[in-house]
Amino acid sequence: MQSMSDYYSAVQLRADRWSALREKLVHLEREPQGRRAKAAHAEAQKLFGSLAIVERYWAFPGMAAFEHIRRQFEAGHLSEATYSVTRVNRALTTGAYRRRKIPLEQGILDEDQEEDALLPPDARALTKPYFEVMIVDDVNEHQERWLKSNMLSMRRSEDAFTYEPVVVSSLQDALIGVLFNHNIQAIIVRPGLRLESEVELAILTRYLNRAGGAEEIEDIPPEDYGPELCRLIAKVRPELDAYLVTDRSVEDIAGLDLGICRRVFYNQEDFMELHLNILRGVQARFKTPFFTALKEYSKQPTGVFHAMPISRGKSITRSHWIQDMGAFYGPNIFLAETSATSGGLDSLLEPHGPIKEAQELAARAFGAKQTFFATNGTSTCNKIVVQALVRPGDIVLVDRDCHKSHHYGMVLAGANVRYLDSYPLNEYSMYGAVPLKEIKHHLLKLKAAGKLDRVRMLLLTNCTFDGIVYNVERVMEECLAIKPDLIFLWDEAWFAFARFGPTYRPRTGMNAANNLRERLRSPEHAKAHAKQVEKLQDADEATLIKTRLIPPPNARVRVYTTQSTHKTLTSLRQGSMIHVNDQDFKGEVEASFQEAYMTHTSTSPNYQIIASLDVGRRQVELEGFEFVQRQVEAAMAMRRAISTHPLLQKYFKVLTAGDMIPEEHRESGVESYYDPEQGWTDIWNCWEKDEFVLDATRVTLAVGGTGWDGDTFKTQVLMDKYGIQINKTSRNTVLFMTNIGTTRSSVAYLIEVLVEIAKELDDRLDDASKMERLAFERRVKNLMQDLPPLPDFSHFHEAFCADPDTGEGDIRTPFFLAYDENNCDYLDLQGGIEAEMDKGREVVSASFIIPYPPGFPILVPGQVVSREILAFMRALDVNEIHGYRADLGLRVFTDEALAKQLETLATAAE
Ligand SMILES: Cc1ncc(COP(=O)(O)O)c(C=O)c1O
Repeated sequence: MQSMSDYYSAVQLRADRWSALREKLVHLEREPQGRRAKAAHAEAQKLFGSLAIVERYWAFPGMAAFEHIRRQFEAGHLSEATYSVTRVNRALTTGAYRRRKIPLEQGILDEDQEEDALLPPDARALTKPYFEVMIVDDVNEHQERWLKSNMLSMRRSEDAFTYEPVVVSSLQDALIGVLFNHNIQAIIVRPGLRLESEVELAILTRYLNRAGGAEEIEDIPPEDYGPELCRLIAKVRPELDAYLVTDRSVEDIAGLDLGICRRVFYNQEDFMELHLNILRGVQARFKTPFFTALKEYSKQPTGVFHAMPISRGKSITRSHWIQDMGAFYGPNIFLAETSATSGGLDSLLEPHGPIKEAQELAARAFGAKQTFFATNGTSTCNKIVVQALVRPGDIVLVDRDCHKSHHYGMVLAGANVRYLDSYPLNEYSMYGAVPLKEIKHHLLKLKAAGKLDRVRMLLLTNCTFDGIVYNVERVMEECLAIKPDLIFLWDEAWFAFARFGPTYRPRTGMNAANNLRERLRSPEHAKAHAKQVEKLQDADEATLIKTRLIPPPNARVRVYTTQSTHKTLTSLRQGSMIHVNDQDFKGEVEASFQEAYMTHTSTSPNYQIIASLDVGRRQVELEGFEFVQRQVEAAMAMRRAISTHPLLQKYFKVLTAGDMIPEEHRESGVESYYDPEQGWTDIWNCWEKDEFVLDATRVTLAVGGTGWDGDTFKTQVLMDKYGIQINKTSRNTVLFMTNIGTTRSSVAYLIEVLVEIAKELDDRLDDASKMERLAFERRVKNLMQDLPPLPDFSHFHEAFCADPDTGEGDIRTPFFLAYDENNCDYLDLQGGIEAEMDKGREVVSASFIIPYPPGFPILVPGQVVSREILAFMRALDVNEIHGYRADLGLRVFTDEALAKQLETLATAAE
């Protein structure tokens, strides 16, 4: 039996224990006597013991059936026990228990088994969705049976869903249950519940730390256990529904925070009402207004007299040459293609019907106040938000290595950009994220210069492509303490899934915004703020940077996030969302947001993308928790497999949080999520505290040890030889991104491939001549050690920056100045630029220069070229540098153009 520390999650442990138990029983049946049989018997007994602890949280097979099997085993009825355990195993792996009743006793024929196994996947998908309902009450066996049978007797054939109840007795068990059993969609909290769980299994009890159920609950009076449970679940699984059954008075309950509670029941025996409410609660999440409308529309007979020949597939079915397109896609996609906005459909540009409703449901799911769909990716979302909020001349603090859509957004808006430097990871040729002290330093500097009123927005990428995640709430809190109406735009292109992982959620913009709104209202906060203001009255900048600043109670919470739903959740390519949680949206922004939305949104938005966003939202509200949990498990399994395999360790290294986040930003001291000696770290602790954490679902692998650079390893090894696709590399690393579709077997395949690559390298080096070996070692050293330092943002030329001390630059002017060829010149990267610099000339870039990788501009229009940037560009051996013409050189401004611009500035100042 593997030890507990080998498991990252209790779900994996459960699955493995069931299959180990089956193996032991089969073995025992075959070989019932002897020394080996004795050992197998003892092992099986242990497995039963450990399963008994975890099974109480699941409806299938259920504790009664489980104990029955165990008794059979103990009574020596091996054949019966083996039969039942095999059935349970099979039903758990195939998910058959979700579709039908599984008879576990030997002799009872499982008539539906064959039929179930033959069901094609699409027919299986049309069976009634299944979930589990957790009843929390301290009852004896007899009462438990009574409760369950009452619930089950309410089932009706017309119900859209089917569910099974599972009963736990205490508040703590309920918290463990909702974090362990992903089948649970609803919780009935009855008045008899106890406080503490009797379970002592670390892999389960650590869930309590996550839910705040370990310490926060000690002083609660028993009558408040129910309401408290609803409140605690809201923190970790806000998508669930709870029903509080109580014998207290309506007045007593009315003033309490009931978290996720949908309804309070004062009559304990009203099972039909409960049943209907449970179904209605799940239906509210299952509902997909736009997807449903589109399906309905596609069934209606219509005559097409609008411009879209593909609509109804007419231009294809009548074709002699493109029939294969129709065959490939099938008829539905064309039946659902239309440019109509009526007939039950809606307009994205001015939604009043099902698109509006779908957006409202998405807002609920992602914790936003308003959500807007986009059918042209987060690139468009970013430009919309920036244009809606930033006025010409406004100062915006932007992380320099953010996605290019932001830089273009700044040009469009006419912003004055103050670029912020992320900490560099020179050894891996990648950037981290912007330290809070760097942000505070610039804000304080702008304050000292009397320009805080012009500072409009802070724009950061959370998480970064490489998986560095900010402490979002802390960043906002401290910035608001300096500038209480600062707007935040968090680019969460890679982080839509985060809302559905309880560890991840607190680090999302929307969750942090909601927490902040609540906290700013509390009297304790006002007191703490007043105290700090007094203490920091004459504080200097160093003190303010060191201190954790508290925002004033009247600070405005103004938060925007943009998410590429298509990157991490179910959505067709380009499906993205803008989430808004801005207290001043209605009063100040709505109209300009509408203009910006109109500027960037097509008048023919793709309906399939919108429908897929709607369905993607349904999925995460019902099974996002399960899928994200599985994704993290898969990534963790990958980390573990690579870091424990002796051959892989020779050539590869999985980068840990310690490698990617400097110690000063990791207050918890956690270096890695898996250690071969100590097993798994509970990442909850560092995710709660640290300035930066690493998103475990992204696995960066240092491949320099193979002698290949990241890009060659990606294209010539992974892609061409093994058909494995990735898209991010650095000079000596490649990034493996898991997603909610990643399975344990796809991870296993990747490991196999890496082992094969390592074996080939071993063989090759074995046969290599001395010279070849030397060349290999030199290549590795070159890739792993001789790396050019990553350059910081230099500065804007004074022609585009009125105040070099605070450094914000007008990026729009140089962008358009470069439209006139006469203002520009080309300088050769290999010597021309340096020669000009030696003569004392300030060389100023006339365009964005974006090498890929890393994929963000190392020069922006108006930026002065530094020697460090030059050295970095020369050392970059990448094929793609957007904006750079190898045949001509770097596009720069002529001295005359700069002088003229300076003159214009001076005249304007007069
Ligand atoms: C941080 C970041 N923001 C925005 C985008 C653009 O997203 P989309 O591809 O949905 O337009 C990307 C794309 O890679 C990105 O990495």
